[in-house]
Amino acid sequence: MTHSSRISGFFKMPREQRVEAVQAFAGLSEAEAALLRQGLALPVEQADRMIENVVGVYGLPLGIATNFQINGRDYLVPMAIEEPSVVAGASFAARLVREGGGFQAHSDAPLMIGQLQILDVADPWAARFALLAAKERLIALANQQDPLMIRLGGGARDVEVRVIEESPVGPMLALHLLYDARDAMGANTVNTALEAIAPLAAEISGGRVRLRILSNLADRRLARAQAVVPVSALAQEGYSGEDVAQGIVEAYAFAASDPYRAATHNKGIMNGIDAVVLATGNDWRAIEAGAHAYAARGGRYTSLSKWGRDAQGNLVGTLELPMAVGTVGGATKVHPLAQVALKVLGVQSARELAEVVAVVGLAQNLAAIRALAAEGIQRGHMALHARQLAIAAGAPPERVDAVVARMVAEKVIRLDRAQEILREMS
Ligand code: MEV
Repeated sequence: MTHSSRISGFFKMPREQRVEAVQAFAGLSEAEAALLRQGLALPVEQADRMIENVVGVYGLPLGIATNFQINGRDYLVPMAIEEPSVVAGASFAARLVREGGGFQAHSDAPLMIGQLQILDVADPWAARFALLAAKERLIALANQQDPLMIRLGGGARDVEVRVIEESPVGPMLALHLLYDARDAMGANTVNTALEAIAPLAAEISGGRVRLRILSNLADRRLARAQAVVPVSALAQEGYSGEDVAQGIVEAYAFAASDPYRAATHNKGIMNGIDAVVLATGNDWRAIEAGAHAYAARGGRYTSLSKWGRDAQGNLVGTLELPMAVGTVGGATKVHPLAQVALKVLGVQSARELAEVVAVVGLAQNLAAIRALAAEGIQRGHMALHARQLAIAAGAPPERVDAVVARMVAEKVIRLDRAQEILREMS
């Protein structure tokens, strides 16, 4: 069993051999490796029990990003995504950061926020006062709802009350129940606790409770990642390391200052994040919602990551965002491949998973803005696109590379050209 995620030539291996390498790295059982090998691991009968009105199962490629080293540990990262270049980009960036000692990451305790909307309070500030004075009763009631969560060390921790002085229907209160969800994402547990405490909150406040639901702006559950890249590692054909590092900092400055660019910059981050979140059976919409709300927390939408230079001139990137992911509950337990993905990652807790996910977001961001700052994004994309076209044109596996090489050399990347080249070859 090897514990280095630096598996050279992984991308060139036949798929079967890649599965073997992942199996060896993560100690997967034969049955788990077979799930990867067979392609579609979610039986339709199981899918039928997951959502309503099921007619089939929708597949996505599952790739493995290599080279990741986080807090001194090596990880192979499963990513479920349809977009070419993402897995390659993450692996490439992870290799650059490896040269600077790998990523550092840490995260907050898994505190979720659940909200009660309280309307029709005569005096919002007096109602807030009364609710905060009754905090212990509310917390105790919330903690009667999920004994297992309490046994695992989780549960309601605190109550906060925000006065919303103006809204289209007048003043209201937002009561926040801060809830430690341990290794769960927490939505079900928090929503149950909120529904349980709503009548008591209405009585104490003298108001009327309407919504009782988790907030996806999980800003008490942040994950942070940092990458340090020696400038020499950034040098490439036609560009000095210094030039690329400066380009990356300038690209960041654009995203920091302009919401049109920030949206795309953050999309690049989410390319990495969503793919791991999805592979591990987590709710990627929740993560998306939290990320973008967090990116706009200052009143103006901006970059989620920051890039600059340290005293030694190294390029340094950091990323911080809400990361409500779980390793238990929901699809993490139901989807057979989510289980395998978690085993490949080898994470011991939801916090560790959150840290890995944040790191992959930062890696993806580095890959994208490095390419944009140097040769541009199309060169890498086009090679992958050419590959897809060669396959679509019916190239047998032993001819794909040759067809791709011709199209890239000619800079004509089209299906009809792939077909022509194939005809010429036969
Ligand atoms: C494409 O999926 C993502 C990028 O647009 C991200 C970026 O512009 O930073 C390349």
